[in-house]
Amino acid sequence: MKRIGILTAGGDTPAINATIHGAVVRANQLKVEILGLIKGFNSLFNPRVPHVRLNPLYQEIPEIDPTKGGTMIGSSHDYVDPNEKDELDLIAHRLRNLGIEGLICVGGHGTLNGLQPLAERVPTVLAPKTIDNDFGLNYPSESDEWVRVPAPDTKGGYRYEHPESLAVFNLDYIVNYVTPGYATAVFVAAGGVERLRTTAESHRRIAIIEVMGRRSGYIALGSAYGRPDIILVPEHPLDMEHLVERVKHLYDLQKNVVIVCGEGIVDEQGRELGAETKTTDPAGNIALSGAAEAVRYKMMLMLGDQYFQQYRRGTAREAIFTRKVGHTQRGGRPIVFDRFYGAQLGAKAVELLLEGHNNAMSTLQYSSTKGFQVDGYDANRFRDRWGYIHARRMDPLLYDPKLMQPSPLGIDYLLPIFTEAIGGDDMEHIRQTLFAPGNLAQPYHSINTDIKKRIRYLEAEG
Ligand code: F6P
Repeated sequence: MKRIGILTAGGDTPAINATIHGAVVRANQLKVEILGLIKGFNSLFNPRVPHVRLNPLYQEIPEIDPTKGGTMIGSSHDYVDPNEKDELDLIAHRLRNLGIEGLICVGGHGTLNGLQPLAERVPTVLAPKTIDNDFGLNYPSESDEWVRVPAPDTKGGYRYEHPESLAVFNLDYIVNYVTPGYATAVFVAAGGVERLRTTAESHRRIAIIEVMGRRSGYIALGSAYGRPDIILVPEHPLDMEHLVERVKHLYDLQKNVVIVCGEGIVDEQGRELGAETKTTDPAGNIALSGAAEAVRYKMMLMLGDQYFQQYRRGTAREAIFTRKVGHTQRGGRPIVFDRFYGAQLGAKAVELLLEGHNNAMSTLQYSSTKGFQVDGYDANRFRDRWGYIHARRMDPLLYDPKLMQPSPLGIDYLLPIFTEAIGGDDMEHIRQTLFAPGNLAQPYHSINTDIKKRIRYLEAEG
């Protein structure tokens, strides 16, 4: 292969530019040209296929900055539809016209879902990204275990269920142990939890902090580093009685409680507490918001004003407050763990393409004896028997539902990721740049302005 394409699909993460950087560095070494397709699959739906040469003369363009969050080539929630054969043919035709012989998609499980039909037309490899850490398998046979039951009221007519597994859960067997973007999201979430504690402590309040992650509790689990008293994860249905009992115990002891709740938590009937709207985004995800508010409301009713009056703390409404960490956990400069492994996975994706793999993915594996290493995995192995790729949920064994904290195994899961996740330069960067006088005197200069000057179109290619 002499020329390949790269695109970034779905929500941004802090590690995507690091992955692009890793891919470009490897492409330079292998003397392969690499074109960045603008705004994900949206570029391929556009007959002009806007794109940028990322390594003219096998030199990385200066805009590629692995320390910058987001994606320099833009992203969108456009995905290829496997049923739209004509559209897929058109896309393959456009890629051929650009001279692209292989494609790297930086994306999550939603992106991989749509890749198979494209991979039948052009060799395609995925490099993983998601802050939710919901892309992978808890053990290799997990995808075979899904069952589906008819559900006429749902999109597609089926509901997918995962029965209890016979497979032994072992950290060494996880497929794609952790995804770039997750460590930085936890870095921000844990920092937010730590900061909110002081308000809860000073004002004798109960803080409920909502973190992202959709139906996977990994970010909530990792926020344990910020030392919340209680963590609620989507994989364990909320037991309100137990929660209130624990809150009372803690409040009585320390006059403040800090609770982290994953945005996808469910009640005992499996209903999402934060699912405010049934509308779905183009990847089919339910928009989640309001889990923390729902928990607050239930807690206000169960504790009542009377409970707080005995502590001279006003009403339940005043005492319990919610905050979302929000998109700050998805943005900004990646910490060194994400930069390093994001780049490795981008490089591995290039290697896989050049070695002749197709419909494959670069993964980050962990071994208790060897540590982390990148590998390749056949994308089909992520599919259930009907061809669908499910978001990975946190294995329930990583969490202790009684203590509402990471279990000992959960701690073992987190340690290899986070013990060295922050580099000295990460802190030095803040010291040198945040209060730089120029920040006040000069307007922000967006990367989009520079990239726009480099965009080329298919027509121009002749
Ligand atoms: O999947 C990543 C994620 O950040 C989720 O954690 C969150 O629910 C969602 O995306 C938010 O999406 P949007 O930016 O479209 O609101």
